[in-house]
Amino acid sequence: MPEGQSRWSQRFDDALHPFIARFNASIGFDFTLLHQDLEGSIAHGRMLAACGVITAAEAEQIVGGLETIGHEAAAGTFRPGVDAEDVHFAVERRLIELVGDVGKKLHTGRSRNDQVGTDLRLWLRGEIDELQVLLRRYGQTLLRLAEAHVETMIPGYTHLQRAQPLSLAHHLLAYVEMTRRDRQRLDQVRQRVNVSPLGAAALAGTPVPVDRRHTAAALGFADIYRNSLDAVSDRDFAVDFLAAASLVMVHLSRLSEEVILWASHEFAFVRLTDRCATGSSLMPQKKNPDVPELVRGKTGRVFGHLQALLTVTKGLPLAYNKDLQEDKEGLFDAVRTTRDCLKAMTILLEEGLCFQPRRLAEAVGDDFANATDVADYLVARGVPFRQAYGLVGGLVKTCLQEGILLRDLPLGRWQQVHPAFAEDIFAALEPRQVVAARLSEGGTGFVRVREALEQARIAFADATGEENL
Ligand code: ARG
Repeated sequence: MPEGQSRWSQRFDDALHPFIARFNASIGFDFTLLHQDLEGSIAHGRMLAACGVITAAEAEQIVGGLETIGHEAAAGTFRPGVDAEDVHFAVERRLIELVGDVGKKLHTGRSRNDQVGTDLRLWLRGEIDELQVLLRRYGQTLLRLAEAHVETMIPGYTHLQRAQPLSLAHHLLAYVEMTRRDRQRLDQVRQRVNVSPLGAAALAGTPVPVDRRHTAAALGFADIYRNSLDAVSDRDFAVDFLAAASLVMVHLSRLSEEVILWASHEFAFVRLTDRCATGSSLMPQKKNPDVPELVRGKTGRVFGHLQALLTVTKGLPLAYNKDLQEDKEGLFDAVRTTRDCLKAMTILLEEGLCFQPRRLAEAVGDDFANATDVADYLVARGVPFRQAYGLVGGLVKTCLQEGILLRDLPLGRWQQVHPAFAEDIFAALEPRQVVAARLSEGGTGFVRVREALEQARIAFADATGEENL
């Protein structure tokens, strides 16, 4: 509370129990919002002067004091303790120490309820902007990797069973698409974050002639809350963010899982470089994919923060309740976790793994992933798909019994099954041909993949294109 008071106002006779003071305090974590608290207070002070509530000279003293606090914080000399309760009181108390009684005018027409909502939105808006930069870099890294691997083929799976061969670029581009949606979603969340609650005061508005649009404009908010109760009690924007961050993490986690599988001896599709892998303390031969494992593991924390905030808000009567102080730590951790995971995955893709072309080529050639193409071959020659499907199933069974692949069957045996088979069946069985033939829009055919790369390159080219993804 301001001015080093040991009690709130003259209404109180006694000081808080020391444990309860610590229990109640949020300064241990909301000091993160210092910069935004100063920014919001400067805008509020200037607005009070513009509206004639305080004089211009008073506003300048207040702004000067707030700026001094900013410098003190940068120098590391502003370090309020739990007696300040929270960052808002810490700033107000220091301001009064610095500029005297005029500092006591700053809180006119404002409450900590609209103040904390303003600070949190300003902070989250900045963090979203940073995450957007990281998402863009991550997407561009995926894209570069895809560009290098258009011609590399990889088995495609359903049910984790080999299904059909793919261009590796096509596989990576699926993650690029997820990233495009992530960017779009964060952009939409930002719009809902970017609304000013300031001037709603404690819950009902204020008789002080404030200009809410003045502070909103000064702080770069696109709009103001229409309803003062909603303004101070709404945390939808934080839930929205946590949901969007959870999906970013889902996407990172899915790729992580694939990298972990690919790096195993059983797959051996990638080799981990020494840059991002660790050894075992016991087994000298081990090289472990810690980075994707950590990303996969950290995903749960972000989901947890989403669930926690939903639970914090679900039973709250209007308007502000102290429960809402619990919105911060989870949100801060979710932002930090998502940011770190994006950075780590970008580094992993850039220098942590090498695809193994020989092993991938072997993998796409040594199975029945071309069986659908044999059926499609017959379909192209007038055989109804269901009949072709049955015939090819029989061929696969024969091969399995004889321990051979489709390409090992001589032409005569194909023709016994159906007279439409001709010499060109062998070309159709080649993995490269199997991939190249899938020219439907969005398919893995090389021509389509090159088109998709081009489109993705444009989408990730500059930040300004972000809203039209
Ligand atoms: N530290 C509080 C929070 O984080 C600030 C708002 C306190 N408001 C109140 N009426 N006690 O939510």
